[in-house]
Amino acid sequence: MAIPQSFVEQLKSRIEIEELIGAYVRLRRQGRSLVGLCPFHSEKTPSFNVFADTQSYYCFGCGAGGDAISFVRAIEHLDYVEAIRLLAERAGLAVPEEQVDPRAARQRADVLELNRQAARFFHEQLRGSREAVRYLSGRGLSQKTILHFGLGYAPDSWDALLSHLKAQGHTEPDIRRAGLCAVGAKGGAYDYFRKRIIFPIIDVRGKVVGFGGRVLDDSKPKYLNSSDTPVFKKSHGLFSLNNAKAAGGRRLILAEGYLDVMALWQAGFTESVATLGTALSSDQARLMARYADEVVIAYDSDEAGRKATDRAIRILGEAGLKTRVLTLEQAKDPDEYLRRFGADKLSAQLARSESSTQYRLQQAARPFDLNEPEGKVGYFREAALLLAELGSPVELDIYAGQLAERLGVDRDSVLTEVARIRRDSGKKQRRRAQDEEQRRLAQGNPRVNPERAQHLRASRIEEEILCLLFAHPDFYEALRRRISADDFVTAFNRRVFEALAAAIEAGDQPDLSCLQQDFSIEEIGAAAGMLARRRGMPGSQAELMELAEGLVEAAAGLRRAAAGVDEQSLQQRLRELGQKK
Ligand code: UTP
Ligand code: MN
Repeated sequence: MAIPQSFVEQLKSRIEIEELIGAYVRLRRQGRSLVGLCPFHSEKTPSFNVFADTQSYYCFGCGAGGDAISFVRAIEHLDYVEAIRLLAERAGLAVPEEQVDPRAARQRADVLELNRQAARFFHEQLRGSREAVRYLSGRGLSQKTILHFGLGYAPDSWDALLSHLKAQGHTEPDIRRAGLCAVGAKGGAYDYFRKRIIFPIIDVRGKVVGFGGRVLDDSKPKYLNSSDTPVFKKSHGLFSLNNAKAAGGRRLILAEGYLDVMALWQAGFTESVATLGTALSSDQARLMARYADEVVIAYDSDEAGRKATDRAIRILGEAGLKTRVLTLEQAKDPDEYLRRFGADKLSAQLARSESSTQYRLQQAARPFDLNEPEGKVGYFREAALLLAELGSPVELDIYAGQLAERLGVDRDSVLTEVARIRRDSGKKQRRRAQDEEQRRLAQGNPRVNPERAQHLRASRIEEEILCLLFAHPDFYEALRRRISADDFVTAFNRRVFEALAAAIEAGDQPDLSCLQQDFSIEEIGAAAGMLARRRGMPGSQAELMELAEGLVEAAAGLRRAAAGVDEQSLQQRLRELGQKK
Protein backbone atom coordinates (compact mmCIF):
# COMPACT_ATOMS: atom_id res chain seq x y z
CA MET A 1 0.00 0.00 0.00
CA ALA A 2 1.60 3.16 -1.17
CA ILE A 3 -0.20 5.81 0.85
CA PRO A 4 -1.26 5.22 4.45
CA GLN A 5 -5.02 5.24 4.95
CA SER A 6 -4.61 7.55 7.92
CA PHE A 7 -3.20 10.18 5.61
CA VAL A 8 -6.05 9.69 3.16
CA GLU A 9 -8.49 10.31 5.98
CA GLN A 10 -6.67 13.37 7.16
CA LEU A 11 -6.73 14.64 3.61
CA LYS A 12 -10.41 13.91 3.15
CA SER A 13 -11.29 15.69 6.35
CA ARG A 14 -9.77 18.84 4.82
CA ILE A 15 -11.89 18.61 1.69
CA GLU A 16 -15.49 19.69 1.28
CA ILE A 17 -16.77 17.67 -1.64
CA GLU A 18 -19.37 20.34 -2.48
CA GLU A 19 -16.60 22.87 -2.83
CA LEU A 20 -14.31 20.56 -4.76
CA ILE A 21 -16.96 19.53 -7.26
CA GLY A 22 -18.46 23.01 -7.29
CA ALA A 23 -15.28 24.24 -8.94
CA TYR A 24 -16.08 22.05 -11.94
CA VAL A 25 -19.87 21.81 -11.94
CA ARG A 26 -22.52 24.39 -11.26
CA LEU A 27 -24.46 22.92 -8.36
CA ARG A 28 -27.75 23.96 -6.90
CA ARG A 29 -29.47 22.73 -3.79
CA GLN A 30 -32.29 20.25 -4.13
CA GLY A 31 -33.56 18.76 -0.90
CA ARG A 32 -30.73 17.14 0.96
CA SER A 33 -28.38 17.02 -1.98
CA LEU A 34 -26.84 19.32 -4.54
CA VAL A 35 -27.55 18.70 -8.19
CA GLY A 36 -25.98 19.79 -11.45
CA LEU A 37 -25.26 18.76 -15.00
CA CYS A 38 -23.06 15.67 -14.98
CA PRO A 39 -19.49 16.41 -16.07
CA PHE A 40 -19.02 12.82 -17.20
CA HIS A 41 -21.75 12.61 -19.81
CA SER A 42 -23.72 15.16 -21.72
CA GLU A 43 -27.20 15.94 -20.48
CA LYS A 44 -29.68 18.77 -20.39
CA THR A 45 -31.46 17.99 -17.14
CA PRO A 46 -29.33 17.48 -14.05
CA SER A 47 -28.99 13.93 -12.75
CA PHE A 48 -25.65 14.46 -11.06
CA ASN A 49 -25.99 14.50 -7.24
CA VAL A 50 -23.51 15.57 -4.60
CA PHE A 51 -24.21 14.38 -1.06
CA ALA A 52 -22.54 16.49 1.59
CA ASP A 53 -23.45 14.15 4.45
CA THR A 54 -21.68 11.14 2.99
CA GLN A 55 -19.16 13.28 1.07
CA SER A 56 -19.97 11.41 -2.11
CA TYR A 57 -21.49 11.95 -5.53
CA TYR A 58 -23.50 9.90 -7.96
CA CYS A 59 -24.98 10.44 -11.40
CA PHE A 60 -28.27 8.65 -11.94
CA GLY A 61 -27.82 9.22 -15.65
CA CYS A 62 -24.50 7.55 -16.36
CA GLY A 63 -23.60 5.76 -13.14
CA ALA A 64 -20.48 7.76 -12.37
CA GLY A 65 -19.97 8.07 -8.66
CA GLY A 66 -17.61 7.95 -5.72
CA ASP A 67 -15.88 10.25 -3.28
CA ALA A 68 -13.59 13.25 -3.60
CA ILE A 69 -10.67 11.11 -4.69
CA SER A 70 -12.51 9.25 -7.41
CA PHE A 71 -13.96 12.53 -8.65
CA VAL A 72 -10.49 13.96 -9.13
CA ARG A 73 -9.28 10.71 -10.68
CA ALA A 74 -12.09 10.74 -13.20
CA ILE A 75 -12.22 14.41 -14.07
CA GLU A 76 -8.49 15.03 -14.24
CA HIS A 77 -7.68 11.62 -15.73
CA LEU A 78 -5.31 10.76 -12.93
CA ASP A 79 -4.51 7.53 -11.18
CA TYR A 80 -5.13 7.09 -7.47
CA VAL A 81 -1.78 8.34 -6.29
CA GLU A 82 -1.75 11.30 -8.65
CA ALA A 83 -5.21 12.28 -7.45
CA ILE A 84 -4.09 12.13 -3.83
CA ARG A 85 -1.09 14.24 -4.65
CA LEU A 86 -3.18 16.87 -6.41
CA LEU A 87 -5.68 17.05 -3.55
CA ALA A 88 -2.88 17.19 -1.03
CA GLU A 89 -1.24 20.01 -2.88
CA ARG A 90 -4.48 21.97 -2.89
CA ALA A 91 -5.02 21.29 0.79
CA GLY A 92 -1.45 22.27 1.60
CA LEU A 93 -0.51 18.83 2.95
CA ALA A 94 2.65 16.89 2.21
CA VAL A 95 2.08 13.32 1.05
CA PRO A 96 4.00 11.07 3.44
CA GLU A 97 6.72 8.74 2.18
CA GLU A 98 5.10 7.81 -1.06
CA GLN A 99 6.03 4.80 -3.07
CA VAL A 100 4.42 5.78 -6.32
CA ASP A 101 4.32 3.21 -9.09
CA PRO A 102 7.90 4.03 -9.96
CA ARG A 103 7.89 2.57 -13.46
CA ALA A 104 5.02 4.61 -14.86
CA ALA A 105 6.34 7.81 -13.33
CA ARG A 106 9.81 7.16 -14.71
CA GLN A 107 8.46 6.38 -18.15
CA ARG A 108 6.57 9.65 -18.23
CA ALA A 109 9.65 11.55 -17.16
CA ASP A 110 11.69 9.76 -19.83
CA VAL A 111 9.22 10.60 -22.57
CA LEU A 112 9.20 14.26 -21.52
CA GLU A 113 12.97 14.34 -21.58
CA LEU A 114 13.09 12.72 -25.03
CA ASN A 115 10.55 15.23 -26.29
CA ARG A 116 12.65 18.07 -24.95
CA GLN A 117 15.73 16.79 -26.69
CA ALA A 118 13.80 16.13 -29.90
CA ALA A 119 12.40 19.68 -29.86
CA ARG A 120 15.93 21.05 -29.55
CA PHE A 121 17.12 18.85 -32.34
CA PHE A 122 14.28 19.94 -34.62
CA HIS A 123 14.93 23.55 -33.77
CA GLU A 124 18.62 23.21 -34.64
CA GLN A 125 17.67 21.58 -37.92
CA LEU A 126 15.41 24.50 -38.75
CA ARG A 127 18.33 26.89 -38.46
CA GLY A 128 20.18 24.75 -40.96
CA SER A 129 17.40 24.40 -43.51
CA ARG A 130 17.05 27.27 -45.89
CA GLU A 131 13.97 25.68 -47.43
CA ALA A 132 12.12 25.44 -44.10
CA VAL A 133 13.06 28.97 -43.05
CA ARG A 134 11.92 30.28 -46.40
CA TYR A 135 8.63 28.43 -46.05
CA LEU A 136 7.92 29.93 -42.63
CA SER A 137 8.78 33.47 -43.59
CA GLY A 138 6.66 32.97 -46.69
CA ARG A 139 3.82 32.22 -44.29
CA GLY A 140 4.40 35.57 -42.66
CA LEU A 141 5.88 34.34 -39.41
CA SER A 142 8.53 36.51 -37.83
CA GLN A 143 11.77 35.30 -36.32
CA LYS A 144 10.41 36.20 -32.90
CA THR A 145 7.26 34.15 -33.37
CA ILE A 146 9.20 31.16 -34.66
CA LEU A 147 11.46 31.31 -31.63
CA HIS A 148 8.63 31.85 -29.19
CA PHE A 149 6.83 28.73 -30.37
CA GLY A 150 10.10 26.81 -30.63
CA LEU A 151 9.30 25.71 -34.18
CA GLY A 152 11.56 23.18 -35.77
CA TYR A 153 12.23 21.16 -38.87
CA ALA A 154 12.39 17.40 -39.27
CA PRO A 155 14.89 16.80 -42.08
CA ASP A 156 14.29 14.59 -45.09
CA SER A 157 15.87 11.54 -43.54
CA TRP A 158 14.79 8.17 -42.19
CA ASP A 159 16.91 8.26 -39.09
CA ALA A 160 18.32 11.72 -38.39
CA LEU A 161 16.48 12.03 -35.09
CA LEU A 162 16.88 8.35 -34.21
CA SER A 163 20.65 8.45 -34.59
CA HIS A 164 20.83 11.71 -32.71
CA LEU A 165 18.83 10.39 -29.76
CA LYS A 166 20.67 7.06 -29.75
CA ALA A 167 23.94 8.94 -29.68
CA GLN A 168 22.64 10.66 -26.56
CA GLY A 169 22.23 7.25 -24.97
CA HIS A 170 18.52 6.62 -25.52
CA THR A 171 17.26 3.20 -26.50
CA GLU A 172 14.97 2.42 -29.38
CA PRO A 173 12.07 1.19 -27.21
CA ASP A 174 12.18 4.46 -25.27
CA ILE A 175 12.22 6.50 -28.43
CA ARG A 176 9.32 4.48 -29.74
CA ARG A 177 7.37 5.00 -26.51
CA ALA A 178 7.77 8.73 -27.02
CA GLY A 179 6.22 8.32 -30.48
CA LEU A 180 9.29 9.76 -32.15
CA CYS A 181 9.94 6.74 -34.31
CA ALA A 182 7.75 4.16 -35.96
CA VAL A 183 8.49 0.53 -36.80
CA GLY A 184 8.11 -0.87 -40.30
CA ALA A 185 6.78 -4.26 -41.38
CA LYS A 186 10.26 -5.77 -41.23
CA GLY A 187 10.89 -4.45 -37.75
CA GLY A 188 13.15 -1.58 -38.69
CA ALA A 189 12.65 1.69 -36.85
CA TYR A 190 12.52 5.02 -38.69
CA ASP A 191 11.84 8.65 -37.82
CA TYR A 192 8.12 9.38 -37.48
CA PHE A 193 8.44 13.01 -38.60
CA ARG A 194 10.31 13.56 -41.86
CA LYS A 195 10.61 16.61 -44.04
CA ARG A 196 8.10 18.57 -42.01
CA ILE A 197 7.88 21.84 -40.13
CA ILE A 198 7.57 20.88 -36.47
CA PHE A 199 5.17 22.54 -34.04
CA PRO A 200 5.97 21.50 -30.45
CA ILE A 201 2.87 21.08 -28.31
CA ILE A 202 3.63 22.49 -24.89
CA ASP A 203 1.42 21.98 -21.87
CA VAL A 204 0.63 24.56 -19.19
CA ARG A 205 3.61 23.48 -17.13
CA GLY A 206 5.88 24.24 -20.08
CA LYS A 207 6.63 20.62 -20.94
CA VAL A 208 6.82 19.47 -24.56
CA VAL A 209 4.18 16.74 -24.63
CA GLY A 210 3.99 16.11 -28.37
CA PHE A 211 4.45 17.50 -31.87
CA GLY A 212 2.56 18.46 -34.97
CA GLY A 213 4.34 18.36 -38.30
CA ARG A 214 3.36 20.09 -41.54
CA VAL A 215 4.62 19.34 -45.03
CA LEU A 216 6.26 22.15 -46.97
CA ASP A 217 4.28 21.52 -50.11
CA ASP A 218 0.97 20.02 -51.17
CA SER A 219 1.76 16.43 -50.30
CA LYS A 220 -0.48 14.41 -48.06
CA PRO A 221 -1.15 14.13 -45.23
CA LYS A 222 -0.75 17.87 -44.69
CA TYR A 223 -0.28 17.43 -40.95
CA LEU A 224 0.97 14.56 -38.85
CA ASN A 225 0.54 14.66 -35.08
CA SER A 226 2.26 12.64 -32.37
CA SER A 227 0.49 9.42 -31.62
CA ASP A 228 -0.72 8.90 -28.06
CA THR A 229 2.09 8.40 -25.55
CA PRO A 230 2.25 8.18 -21.75
CA VAL A 231 2.22 11.99 -21.67
CA PHE A 232 0.09 12.86 -24.67
CA LYS A 233 -3.41 12.29 -25.89
CA LYS A 234 -4.43 14.15 -29.01
CA SER A 235 -8.01 14.67 -27.92
CA HIS A 236 -6.93 16.15 -24.56
CA GLY A 237 -4.31 18.72 -25.43
CA LEU A 238 -4.60 22.20 -26.88
CA PHE A 239 -1.98 23.93 -28.95
CA SER A 240 -0.61 27.11 -27.33
CA LEU A 241 -2.59 26.77 -24.11
CA ASN A 242 0.65 27.63 -22.30
CA ASN A 243 0.68 31.02 -24.04
CA ALA A 244 -3.03 31.57 -23.56
CA LYS A 245 -2.71 30.84 -19.87
CA ALA A 246 0.14 33.33 -19.62
CA ALA A 247 -2.08 35.92 -21.33
CA GLY A 248 -4.05 35.78 -18.12
CA GLY A 249 -7.47 36.91 -19.37
CA ARG A 250 -10.65 34.94 -18.89
CA ARG A 251 -11.29 34.79 -22.62
CA LEU A 252 -9.85 32.34 -25.15
CA ILE A 253 -9.97 32.33 -28.91
CA LEU A 254 -10.41 28.87 -30.40
CA ALA A 255 -9.10 28.42 -33.94
CA GLU A 256 -8.80 25.33 -36.13
CA GLY A 257 -5.15 25.30 -37.06
CA TYR A 258 -1.63 25.65 -35.75
CA LEU A 259 -0.97 28.41 -38.24
CA ASP A 260 -4.09 30.33 -37.28
CA VAL A 261 -2.96 30.32 -33.68
CA MET A 262 0.54 31.45 -34.58
CA ALA A 263 -0.73 34.25 -36.80
CA LEU A 264 -3.14 35.34 -34.06
CA TRP A 265 -0.38 35.28 -31.45
CA GLN A 266 1.87 37.33 -33.68
CA ALA A 267 -0.89 39.90 -34.14
CA GLY A 268 -1.22 40.24 -30.37
CA PHE A 269 -4.09 37.79 -29.75
CA THR A 270 -1.99 35.65 -27.47
CA GLU A 271 -5.04 34.00 -25.88
CA SER A 272 -5.56 31.76 -28.93
CA VAL A 273 -5.58 27.98 -28.88
CA ALA A 274 -6.38 25.15 -31.30
CA THR A 275 -7.25 21.50 -31.08
CA LEU A 276 -4.77 19.07 -32.58
CA GLY A 277 -6.49 17.77 -35.67
CA THR A 278 -9.41 16.13 -33.90
CA ALA A 279 -12.90 17.46 -33.30
CA LEU A 280 -13.25 19.41 -30.06
CA SER A 281 -13.75 17.02 -27.16
CA SER A 282 -15.53 17.65 -23.89
CA ASP A 283 -12.19 17.08 -22.14
CA GLN A 284 -10.72 19.97 -24.06
CA ALA A 285 -13.76 22.11 -23.28
CA ARG A 286 -13.34 21.43 -19.57
CA LEU A 287 -9.65 22.20 -19.85
CA MET A 288 -10.54 25.57 -21.35
CA ALA A 289 -13.11 26.20 -18.65
CA ARG A 290 -10.26 26.14 -16.13
CA TYR A 291 -8.69 29.20 -17.71
CA ALA A 292 -11.62 31.02 -19.24
CA ASP A 293 -15.24 32.03 -18.83
CA GLU A 294 -15.75 32.82 -22.47
CA VAL A 295 -14.50 31.34 -25.73
CA VAL A 296 -14.61 33.05 -29.09
CA ILE A 297 -14.88 30.41 -31.78
CA ALA A 298 -12.79 31.44 -34.78
CA TYR A 299 -13.07 28.45 -37.08
CA ASP A 300 -12.65 28.36 -40.84
CA SER A 301 -15.43 30.02 -42.79
CA ASP A 302 -16.23 26.99 -44.97
CA GLU A 303 -19.11 24.56 -44.51
CA ALA A 304 -16.95 22.21 -42.40
CA GLY A 305 -16.00 25.14 -40.20
CA ARG A 306 -19.66 26.07 -39.72
CA LYS A 307 -20.55 22.51 -38.73
CA ALA A 308 -17.63 22.42 -36.32
CA THR A 309 -18.80 25.75 -34.89
CA ASP A 310 -22.27 24.38 -34.09
CA ARG A 311 -20.67 21.46 -32.35
CA ALA A 312 -18.21 23.63 -30.44
CA ILE A 313 -21.01 25.91 -29.22
CA ARG A 314 -22.74 22.88 -27.74
CA ILE A 315 -19.66 21.26 -26.19
CA LEU A 316 -18.27 24.48 -24.75
CA GLY A 317 -21.70 25.37 -23.41
CA GLU A 318 -21.93 22.03 -21.65
CA ALA A 319 -18.64 22.82 -19.96
CA GLY A 320 -20.22 26.00 -18.60
CA LEU A 321 -18.46 28.37 -20.99
CA LYS A 322 -20.05 31.34 -22.68
CA THR A 323 -19.42 31.31 -26.40
CA ARG A 324 -19.20 33.86 -29.16
CA VAL A 325 -18.61 33.31 -32.84
CA LEU A 326 -16.23 35.23 -35.03
CA THR A 327 -17.35 35.16 -38.64
CA LEU A 328 -14.79 36.26 -41.16
CA GLU A 329 -15.81 37.46 -44.56
CA GLN A 330 -13.46 37.35 -47.52
CA ALA A 331 -11.02 35.03 -45.80
CA LYS A 332 -11.04 31.31 -45.21
CA ASP A 333 -9.48 31.44 -41.74
CA PRO A 334 -8.00 33.86 -39.19
CA ASP A 335 -4.52 33.41 -40.66
CA GLU A 336 -5.64 34.57 -44.09
CA TYR A 337 -7.79 37.33 -42.60
CA LEU A 338 -4.86 38.77 -40.70
CA ARG A 339 -2.64 38.67 -43.76
CA ARG A 340 -5.22 40.49 -45.85
CA PHE A 341 -6.71 42.97 -43.40
CA GLY A 342 -4.39 43.21 -40.41
CA ALA A 343 -4.74 43.09 -36.64
CA ASP A 344 -6.89 46.20 -36.20
CA LYS A 345 -9.59 44.90 -38.51
CA LEU A 346 -9.57 41.59 -36.70
CA SER A 347 -9.84 43.37 -33.40
CA ALA A 348 -12.90 45.22 -34.68
CA GLN A 349 -14.41 41.95 -35.91
CA LEU A 350 -13.81 40.41 -32.50
CA ALA A 351 -15.60 43.28 -30.82
CA ARG A 352 -18.48 42.68 -33.20
CA SER A 353 -18.51 38.89 -32.79
CA GLU A 354 -21.93 37.49 -32.16
CA SER A 355 -23.11 35.69 -29.07
CA SER A 356 -23.70 32.04 -29.87
CA THR A 357 -27.45 32.62 -29.71
CA GLN A 358 -27.29 35.44 -32.25
CA TYR A 359 -25.11 33.25 -34.41
CA ARG A 360 -27.43 30.27 -34.26
CA LEU A 361 -30.49 32.41 -34.96
CA GLN A 362 -28.66 33.83 -37.94
CA GLN A 363 -27.66 30.41 -39.23
CA ALA A 364 -31.16 29.02 -38.78
CA ALA A 365 -32.55 31.76 -41.03
CA ARG A 366 -30.36 30.77 -43.96
CA PRO A 367 -32.67 28.24 -45.63
CA PHE A 368 -35.74 30.48 -45.41
CA ASP A 369 -36.98 33.30 -47.60
CA LEU A 370 -38.20 35.79 -45.03
CA ASN A 371 -40.04 37.83 -47.64
CA GLU A 372 -42.49 34.97 -48.06
CA PRO A 373 -45.13 34.07 -45.46
CA GLU A 374 -44.14 30.35 -45.47
CA GLY A 375 -40.54 31.34 -45.03
CA LYS A 376 -41.46 33.44 -42.04
CA VAL A 377 -43.53 30.69 -40.47
CA GLY A 378 -40.77 28.14 -41.03
CA TYR A 379 -38.15 30.37 -39.49
CA PHE A 380 -40.44 31.34 -36.62
CA ARG A 381 -40.65 27.64 -35.62
CA GLU A 382 -36.93 26.97 -35.97
CA ALA A 383 -36.01 30.08 -34.04
CA ALA A 384 -38.48 29.34 -31.26
CA LEU A 385 -36.85 25.90 -30.84
CA LEU A 386 -33.52 27.62 -30.31
CA LEU A 387 -34.95 30.16 -27.89
CA ALA A 388 -36.57 27.38 -25.88
CA GLU A 389 -33.08 26.16 -24.97
CA LEU A 390 -32.03 29.45 -23.38
CA GLY A 391 -31.43 29.19 -19.68
CA SER A 392 -31.70 32.85 -18.80
CA PRO A 393 -35.07 34.66 -18.83
CA VAL A 394 -33.36 37.95 -19.61
CA GLU A 395 -31.71 36.46 -22.68
CA LEU A 396 -34.98 34.94 -23.77
CA ASP A 397 -36.66 38.29 -23.44
CA ILE A 398 -34.07 40.08 -25.51
CA TYR A 399 -33.91 37.55 -28.31
CA ALA A 400 -37.65 37.06 -28.43
CA GLY A 401 -37.94 40.81 -28.93
CA GLN A 402 -35.36 40.76 -31.73
CA LEU A 403 -37.02 37.85 -33.46
CA ALA A 404 -40.45 39.39 -33.20
CA GLU A 405 -39.18 42.57 -34.74
CA ARG A 406 -37.41 40.77 -37.52
CA LEU A 407 -40.50 38.80 -38.46
CA GLY A 408 -42.96 41.57 -37.81
CA VAL A 409 -44.90 39.57 -35.24
CA ASP A 410 -45.94 40.14 -31.68
CA ARG A 411 -43.32 39.47 -28.99
CA ASP A 412 -45.89 37.57 -26.98
CA SER A 413 -46.56 35.12 -29.77
CA VAL A 414 -42.87 34.24 -29.72
CA LEU A 415 -42.94 33.73 -25.96
CA THR A 416 -46.11 31.64 -26.17
CA GLU A 417 -44.54 29.36 -28.78
CA VAL A 418 -41.40 28.99 -26.64
CA ALA A 419 -43.49 28.11 -23.59
CA ARG A 420 -45.41 25.50 -25.60
CA ILE A 421 -42.18 23.87 -26.84
CA ARG A 422 -40.79 23.81 -23.31
CA ARG A 423 -43.93 22.17 -21.92
CA ASP A 424 -43.86 19.44 -24.54
CA SER A 425 -40.18 18.66 -24.30
CA GLY A 426 -40.26 18.83 -20.52
CA LYS A 427 -42.87 16.10 -20.41
CA LYS A 428 -40.99 13.94 -22.88
CA GLN A 429 -37.71 14.38 -21.04
CA ARG A 430 -39.17 13.57 -17.66
CA ARG A 431 -40.72 10.41 -19.05
CA ARG A 432 -37.45 9.37 -20.62
CA ALA A 433 -35.54 10.09 -17.43
CA GLN A 434 -38.00 8.01 -15.41
CA ASP A 435 -37.73 5.04 -17.78
CA GLU A 436 -34.00 5.24 -17.67
CA GLU A 437 -34.01 5.44 -13.89
CA GLN A 438 -36.27 2.41 -13.64
CA ARG A 439 -33.98 0.45 -15.87
CA ARG A 440 -30.95 1.32 -13.81
CA LEU A 441 -32.66 0.60 -10.53
CA ALA A 442 -33.49 -2.85 -11.78
CA GLN A 443 -30.13 -3.53 -13.32
CA GLY A 444 -27.24 -1.89 -11.59
CA ASN A 445 -24.17 -1.82 -13.75
CA PRO A 446 -23.93 -5.17 -15.58
CA ARG A 447 -20.31 -4.66 -16.54
CA VAL A 448 -19.22 -4.30 -12.95
CA ASN A 449 -21.27 -7.13 -11.52
CA PRO A 450 -22.07 -9.51 -14.36
CA GLU A 451 -23.42 -12.15 -11.98
CA ARG A 452 -26.12 -9.81 -10.74
CA ALA A 453 -28.68 -10.60 -13.43
CA GLN A 454 -28.31 -14.31 -12.79
CA HIS A 455 -28.48 -14.03 -8.98
CA LEU A 456 -30.80 -11.10 -8.70
CA ARG A 457 -32.29 -11.89 -5.34
CA ALA A 458 -29.01 -12.78 -3.69
CA SER A 459 -27.22 -9.75 -5.07
CA ARG A 460 -30.01 -7.45 -3.91
CA ILE A 461 -29.68 -8.82 -0.41
CA GLU A 462 -25.93 -8.36 -0.63
CA GLU A 463 -26.34 -4.76 -1.66
CA GLU A 464 -28.74 -4.06 1.19
CA ILE A 465 -26.24 -5.54 3.60
CA LEU A 466 -23.41 -3.45 2.20
CA CYS A 467 -25.44 -0.25 2.37
CA LEU A 468 -26.47 -0.87 5.94
CA LEU A 469 -22.91 -1.61 6.85
CA PHE A 470 -21.59 1.56 5.22
CA ALA A 471 -24.10 3.52 7.29
CA HIS A 472 -23.70 1.54 10.52
CA PRO A 473 -20.20 0.14 10.96
CA ASP A 474 -21.14 -0.57 14.58
CA PHE A 475 -23.39 -3.42 13.36
CA TYR A 476 -20.35 -5.18 11.95
CA GLU A 477 -19.49 -7.13 15.09
CA ALA A 478 -22.90 -8.81 15.15
CA LEU A 479 -22.90 -9.40 11.42
CA ARG A 480 -19.46 -10.97 11.44
CA ARG A 481 -20.71 -13.63 13.84
CA ARG A 482 -23.38 -14.63 11.35
CA ILE A 483 -21.76 -14.34 7.91
CA SER A 484 -18.38 -14.02 6.25
CA ALA A 485 -17.23 -12.99 2.81
CA ASP A 486 -17.70 -16.60 1.66
CA ASP A 487 -21.44 -16.24 1.99
CA PHE A 488 -21.51 -13.59 -0.70
CA VAL A 489 -22.74 -15.02 -3.97
CA THR A 490 -21.53 -12.43 -6.44
CA ALA A 491 -17.82 -11.79 -6.67
CA PHE A 492 -18.10 -8.02 -6.96
CA ASN A 493 -20.21 -7.59 -3.83
CA ARG A 494 -17.90 -9.98 -2.04
CA ARG A 495 -14.93 -7.76 -2.87
CA VAL A 496 -16.77 -4.69 -1.63
CA PHE A 497 -17.62 -6.51 1.57
CA GLU A 498 -14.02 -7.57 2.09
CA ALA A 499 -12.70 -4.06 1.58
CA LEU A 500 -15.35 -2.62 3.86
CA ALA A 501 -14.75 -5.23 6.55
CA ALA A 502 -11.01 -4.62 6.39
CA ALA A 503 -11.55 -0.90 6.85
CA ILE A 504 -13.88 -1.40 9.80
CA GLU A 505 -11.54 -3.87 11.44
CA ALA A 506 -8.65 -1.45 10.98
CA GLY A 507 -10.74 1.22 12.68
CA ASP A 508 -10.91 3.36 9.54
CA GLN A 509 -13.84 5.42 8.46
CA PRO A 510 -15.86 3.01 6.30
CA ASP A 511 -16.60 5.17 3.27
CA LEU A 512 -15.96 4.84 -0.43
CA SER A 513 -12.31 5.70 0.02
CA CYS A 514 -11.70 2.21 1.36
CA LEU A 515 -12.29 1.02 -2.22
CA GLN A 516 -9.91 3.45 -3.89
CA GLN A 517 -6.80 1.31 -4.02
CA ASP A 518 -8.21 -1.84 -5.53
CA PHE A 519 -11.32 -0.78 -7.43
CA SER A 520 -11.65 0.82 -10.83
CA ILE A 521 -13.46 4.12 -11.23
CA GLU A 522 -16.36 2.26 -12.77
CA GLU A 523 -16.55 -0.14 -9.84
CA ILE A 524 -16.47 2.71 -7.35
CA GLY A 525 -19.26 4.29 -9.38
CA ALA A 526 -21.33 1.12 -9.02
CA ALA A 527 -20.76 1.08 -5.28
CA ALA A 528 -21.69 4.77 -5.05
CA GLY A 529 -24.83 3.87 -6.99
CA MET A 530 -25.86 1.23 -4.46
CA LEU A 531 -25.51 3.79 -1.71
CA ALA A 532 -27.20 6.59 -3.60
CA ARG A 533 -30.22 4.46 -4.46
CA ARG A 534 -30.78 3.53 -0.86
CA ARG A 535 -30.12 6.95 0.57
CA GLY A 536 -32.08 7.93 3.60
CA MET A 537 -33.57 4.48 4.11
CA PRO A 538 -33.41 3.76 7.81
CA GLY A 539 -32.00 0.43 8.89
CA SER A 540 -31.76 -1.45 12.14
CA GLN A 541 -29.44 -4.16 13.34
CA ALA A 542 -32.39 -6.56 13.41
CA GLU A 543 -33.01 -5.88 9.75
CA LEU A 544 -29.38 -6.45 8.96
CA MET A 545 -29.45 -9.81 10.71
CA GLU A 546 -32.54 -10.78 8.78
CA LEU A 547 -30.80 -9.90 5.56
CA ALA A 548 -27.83 -12.00 6.65
CA GLU A 549 -30.17 -14.98 7.15
CA GLY A 550 -31.62 -14.39 3.72
CA LEU A 551 -28.17 -14.38 2.18
CA VAL A 552 -27.05 -17.54 3.95
CA GLU A 553 -30.16 -19.26 2.73
CA ALA A 554 -29.77 -18.07 -0.84
CA ALA A 555 -26.13 -19.06 -0.88
CA ALA A 556 -26.87 -22.50 0.57
CA GLY A 557 -29.53 -23.03 -2.06
CA LEU A 558 -27.08 -22.18 -4.77
CA ARG A 559 -24.45 -24.46 -3.28
CA ARG A 560 -26.87 -27.37 -3.15
CA ALA A 561 -27.77 -26.67 -6.71
CA ALA A 562 -24.16 -26.60 -7.75
CA ALA A 563 -23.57 -29.86 -5.92
CA GLY A 564 -25.69 -31.68 -8.45
CA VAL A 565 -29.33 -30.72 -8.24
CA ASP A 566 -30.55 -30.37 -11.77
CA GLU A 567 -31.40 -27.09 -13.42
CA GLN A 568 -35.15 -27.51 -12.98
CA SER A 569 -35.17 -27.93 -9.24
CA LEU A 570 -32.71 -25.08 -8.93
CA GLN A 571 -35.19 -22.86 -10.71
CA GLN A 572 -37.90 -24.17 -8.40
CA ARG A 573 -35.77 -23.45 -5.37
CA LEU A 574 -35.05 -19.93 -6.54
CA ARG A 575 -38.73 -19.32 -7.17
CA GLU A 576 -39.48 -20.38 -3.63
CA LEU A 577 -36.82 -18.05 -2.32
CA GLY A 578 -38.20 -15.31 -4.51
CA GLN A 579 -41.66 -15.74 -3.02
CA LYS A 580 -40.42 -15.53 0.50
CA LYS A 581 -39.71 -11.84 0.57
P1 UTP B 1 -5.98 23.23 -41.90
O1 UTP B 1 -5.90 22.40 -43.12
O2 UTP B 1 -6.96 24.35 -41.87
O3 UTP B 1 -4.52 23.72 -41.58
O4 UTP B 1 -6.24 22.25 -40.70
P2 UTP B 1 -3.89 25.11 -41.08
O5 UTP B 1 -3.34 24.95 -39.72
O6 UTP B 1 -4.83 26.22 -41.32
O7 UTP B 1 -2.65 25.22 -42.01
P3 UTP B 1 -2.56 25.88 -43.43
O8 UTP B 1 -2.90 27.31 -43.26
O9 UTP B 1 -3.47 25.17 -44.36
O10 UTP B 1 -1.13 25.64 -43.78
C1 UTP B 1 -6.50 22.71 -39.41
C2 UTP B 1 -5.85 21.82 -38.41
O11 UTP B 1 -6.31 20.48 -38.56
C3 UTP B 1 -5.28 19.56 -38.28
C4 UTP B 1 -4.07 20.40 -37.88
O12 UTP B 1 -4.08 20.51 -36.45
C5 UTP B 1 -4.35 21.72 -38.53
O13 UTP B 1 -3.68 22.78 -37.91
N1 UTP B 1 -4.96 18.72 -39.45
C6 UTP B 1 -5.17 19.16 -40.72
C7 UTP B 1 -4.43 17.47 -39.25
O14 UTP B 1 -4.23 17.03 -38.09
N2 UTP B 1 -4.12 16.67 -40.31
C8 UTP B 1 -4.29 17.09 -41.61
O15 UTP B 1 -3.95 16.34 -42.55
C9 UTP B 1 -4.85 18.36 -41.80
MN1 MN C 1 -6.73 26.49 -42.02
